[in-house]
Amino acid sequence: MNDLAREMESWPDRIDKAMVHCGAHLRDYIIISQIASTQDIARKLNVPAGTVIIAGAQTAGRGRFGRSWSGDPSQGVYVSIVLPWKNAPRLAIASAVGVVSALQMINQGNATFGIKWPNDVLAQEKGNNTSWRKLSGVLVEQFNDCAIIGIGINVLHRTWPEELAERAVSLLQLGIQVERIAVIEQLLPAIDAAITLNCVQLTRRFNTVDIMTGRVCNFVSAGENYKGEIMSIDPQRGLHVRLDGDKESRWFAAESTTLQVPSAK
Ligand code: BTN
Repeated sequence: MNDLAREMESWPDRIDKAMVHCGAHLRDYIIISQIASTQDIARKLNVPAGTVIIAGAQTAGRGRFGRSWSGDPSQGVYVSIVLPWKNAPRLAIASAVGVVSALQMINQGNATFGIKWPNDVLAQEKGNNTSWRKLSGVLVEQFNDCAIIGIGINVLHRTWPEELAERAVSLLQLGIQVERIAVIEQLLPAIDAAITLNCVQLTRRFNTVDIMTGRVCNFVSAGENYKGEIMSIDPQRGLHVRLDGDKESRWFAAESTTLQVPSAK
């Protein structure tokens, strides 16, 4: 038996137990040892709504705007969840809120987690005033009448490809030593609970982990570069910004907008 198979031996039992705490939306799961992308297999298998696909290794994961989700393929958490919903922006934020809740459960006091709207979970080492680095990403795609939520979390990575070295971080690099299955155990109930929140509850919870509001930020929306002060972020409406030089503020939609990573604060 190879290392991956050995590591994954306990996953069915432990995920069975975690699923007991997922009453509302997550109903069933499929574990796959190695796959190109959990998003693609969810489409290919045409799994029913409520199904979670969990991979031990993912070799060709993808992110927003066709980017790749890189890093050692068997050191992260790779999950896709099929849900009978259409509101992608709100689902992406609810999922990111769920990821932060799960991470807060396993935090050993070493890190602070926050959401870079709309779908990135960043981490900062506590007390070090280091820059924010990306720990997790959420991708929501539509498929037939369903949304497929893809979640990647960096857990055991020790090194990164050169282009990511400054921007990416894993739990291990933050000093949090945890098995991947322990992250999955926290993640599934946390996502189930977060997507159950109503608009008011979601906005309130999001506001506690939003690290962008109040900052002056460079961003790209629909291919155009902008700079402005982020006045507020609303899970439904998007990003509310006063652009440099403008008196009026404007809203930008989550589907077409990417914010620059904030500097240390
Ligand atoms: C992003 O940051 O742009 C989103 C990254 C999403 C990566 C996850 S890993 C599991 C799922 N399968 C994929 O191919 N992508 C998502």
